[in-house]
Amino acid sequence: MKVIIVKDYEEASQKACEIMLDVVKNNPKANLGLATGSTPIRMYELMREDHKKNGTSYKDIKSFNLDEYFGLDQSHPQSYHYFMCHNLFDELDIDMNNVHVPKGKGNIDEECDAYNKLLEENPIDIQLLGIGSNGHIGFNEPGTPFDSVTHKVELKQSTIEDNARLFFNGKIEDVPTQAVSMGIANIMKAKKVLLIACGEGKAKAIYGTVEGPKTVDIPASALQDHPDCTIIADEAAAKLLT
Ligand code: F6R
Repeated sequence: MKVIIVKDYEEASQKACEIMLDVVKNNPKANLGLATGSTPIRMYELMREDHKKNGTSYKDIKSFNLDEYFGLDQSHPQSYHYFMCHNLFDELDIDMNNVHVPKGKGNIDEECDAYNKLLEENPIDIQLLGIGSNGHIGFNEPGTPFDSVTHKVELKQSTIEDNARLFFNGKIEDVPTQAVSMGIANIMKAKKVLLIACGEGKAKAIYGTVEGPKTVDIPASALQDHPDCTIIADEAAAKLLT
């Protein structure tokens, strides 16, 4: 595990963008594993700026997102599909047929099986991750087995409340109670993993991920066994590291 400590969110986003662009430029047909949440927003903005300014092309790139709420259409403004279009894809030359976000409608078990098959057929070259303050990656909350693959998640009340605050204008009754998430085993299969963590709220999780024992209580600690995992943490998120 390689840990890069940077000053702040801006520097973390610049460094992460550099690593992501390196993969895209070296392999114009790369499969990118992508994440939502507040952390990658600036990095996605930098990727859009680079595409506009330098013409880095995504026309043969495929993307695979970590997770999606269940019960929302792709066009729903709170869906992760919508988030990705709004924050990244709409301003790139990516072919939308090559964009994959787990589907939030239909038969959830069939959707999970189909997503696992898709990931097997398209090995991910770089998987971008954020991290929850409890150490979750994707929607893999503490307790999720390390051998889990794409699965249905019953969202915890605390996650529902957090997400209502952030995305649903505080209306808890509108937040879906289920989601689809890549499992930890899917994430571990990516050739390269890039995790960004910023802010003091992530300090405990980063300590557990990097220095704590490997345990399902901190899902990101599974990454200790990954052969090519880079963590970019700002000073606040890295403050408990020795
Ligand atoms: C997002 C995801 C989540 C977030 C994590 C951190 O697709 O799977 O694991 O990466 O909850 O969220 P932020 O970046 O909002 O702190």
